[in-house]
Amino acid sequence: MLAAAAVSTHPDDPLAGLVVGEQPERPAPDGWTTVLVRAAALNHHDLFSLRGVGLTAERLPMILGCDAAGVTEDGRDVVVHAVIGDPAAADGDETLDPKRTLLSELHPGTLAERVTVPTRNLVPKPASLSWEEAACLPTAWLTAYRMVINRAGLPADGGGTLLVQGAGGGLATAAILIAKAAGHTVFATSRAESKRKRALHLGADAALESGARLPRRVDAVIETVGAATWHHSVASLRPGGRIVCSGATSGDNPPAELTRIFFLQLSVVGSTMGTRDELIDLVAFLDRTGVRPVIDDVRPLADARASFERLVRGDVHGKLVLTV
Ligand SMILES: NC(=O)c1ccc[n+]([C@@H]2O[C@H](COP(=O)([O-])OP(=O)(O)OC[C@H]3O[C@@H](n4cnc5c(N)ncnc54)[C@H](OP(=O)(O)O)[C@@H]3O)[C@@H](O)[C@H]2O)c1
Repeated sequence: MLAAAAVSTHPDDPLAGLVVGEQPERPAPDGWTTVLVRAAALNHHDLFSLRGVGLTAERLPMILGCDAAGVTEDGRDVVVHAVIGDPAAADGDETLDPKRTLLSELHPGTLAERVTVPTRNLVPKPASLSWEEAACLPTAWLTAYRMVINRAGLPADGGGTLLVQGAGGGLATAAILIAKAAGHTVFATSRAESKRKRALHLGADAALESGARLPRRVDAVIETVGAATWHHSVASLRPGGRIVCSGATSGDNPPAELTRIFFLQLSVVGSTMGTRDELIDLVAFLDRTGVRPVIDDVRPLADARASFERLVRGDVHGKLVLTV
């Protein structure tokens, strides 16, 4: 079948190991279901894999991709949950299973005509979401949803105040849209004037330059930038506030600022992906609120290389989607 796969890994030249072509298909084990992919979306995870992060040589060639929506062989429209883990191993939360993997790390991923996943990883797709929109949800959007709704400690009925760092990012964009639809006040930062304008357009209540003083201190921060914004995140919290961190694009080792953390009784909470139940909640949230992922570009799977080239260049404003 046609697929986009890593056949070798190259830390400094990720696209050198990318092949878009025929790959063998593995039969579905017991308890797994094959999905005919209708749309799949790219993530930085795919570039990390091509650089050899989390993907060892003995697992190559590996079909890339975490995100997809499609149709099961018996005709059900589904979104594919990318976390392969056992909830029973970790108090009902498969993201905490020590043996957890994501699609394309151990099992072939979603950038293909077909993907095979544990049957519990299939989430019904409502007709209100297009294939392209549904395909954007399982990684960046699910991660943002868990961070904002379940990890930030904001009031469930709205009224909290949130800072989203690096507003131009895919995850940050999702966090702004989700937090506004959930009734919170959102401040966003970005280095670029154009991205600050886009954040306001998405509904942010204020968009400031990275590091600038906020209108007031916030209850929580959505942190994916890391070293470049960490000091500002710590300084922007009210006493008892919380940083929720799921990425460190600019570096993962900033000064910890422990004095401020204990004196103001701040919390630092890690977050990665989300559970199958959280993906069900996210799908229902979009269905109910009308919020939709921002999609930059849609092209056929056969043109996947062009989408990867854009991801490497970084000039992307929303998700890059491939259709089958
Ligand atoms: N843990 C998980 O489950 C999970 C899931 C998805 C993503 N992630 C991680 O989350 C991070 C963001 O992912 P993404 O897809 O949203 O990436 P992205 O679209 O490339 O966004 C990254 C953003 O970081 C900001 N940034 C980068 N370097 C910066 C610097 N030196 N100073 C200030 N800001 C800087 C930029 O914001 P501005 O240009 O607007 O300033 C940029 O838009 C990545 O590290 C990714 O691996 C983790």
